[in-house]
Amino acid sequence: MIFKNLIETNLRTKVLGKTIEYYQRLDSTNKESWELINSNQAQHGMVIITDNQLAGKGRNGNSWFMSPSKGLALSVVLTKAMPLNQAKLIPLAAGLSVAKALENRGCNPTLKWPNDILLNGKKTGGILCESRFSDGFVNSMIIGIGLNINENIYDFPESFDNKATSYAIETGNSIQRELICAILLTYFEQIIEDLKSCTKEWLKFCAHKEEFVKFRMNGREYEGIFKGINENGEALIKINDEQKGFPSIIIE
Ligand code: BTN
Repeated sequence: MIFKNLIETNLRTKVLGKTIEYYQRLDSTNKESWELINSNQAQHGMVIITDNQLAGKGRNGNSWFMSPSKGLALSVVLTKAMPLNQAKLIPLAAGLSVAKALENRGCNPTLKWPNDILLNGKKTGGILCESRFSDGFVNSMIIGIGLNINENIYDFPESFDNKATSYAIETGNSIQRELICAILLTYFEQIIEDLKSCTKEWLKFCAHKEEFVKFRMNGREYEGIFKGINENGEALIKINDEQKGFPSIIIE
């Protein structure tokens, strides 16, 4: 059970999370958010959260596993039009806000481009941003955040091969998921208000500066040296002596 009022008590935001829709179980908070947008029921800044996500969507068409009542699965809905160059920074801003929330609770998180959240080098969280755009503006955007909080090692499927971790595994303590949710939403709003500074701050948490990275984009696999992030939020990757920018945003 997620207690909405516990999130609300700890929130320090003006817009994000002013409306929270909680579902005991749901296929996917991102899918539900699209349904609300498509039926004109979505409000800018609303948060969709569930205690048991049955068919969570991950990046690159993967699925996202959530341990019921232990993990965090939520989506933030933005419906105010935003210029594309700003929208491109939102996935990074979301990852940064999760990293800052974990840091605020005594962890040492790192970020793997585009937005994996790691503790001790193992995946603890991920972000799936989906958006619709026309004429240079993103008109609606859904920021889906999945975070492992109170799982123990036996809660993850065997196929994860010990590559996933959680806040509880790394700190030895459990924590109220509502508190983490409120803190990350509070950071997210602050970062969105000053989006330009987010690339610099993101790099402070980067797990692989000047290191060899491998990633998938649009069904293709790329590998190269990670050089940094430009002001559009694109990763600068050096592949065969040529530096290229790769966006982290998924546009429908
Ligand atoms: C990744 O592949 O790393 C991204 C995972 C994103 C998972 C979250 S959980 C809440 C939201 N709803 C979904 O269906 N997916 C995202």
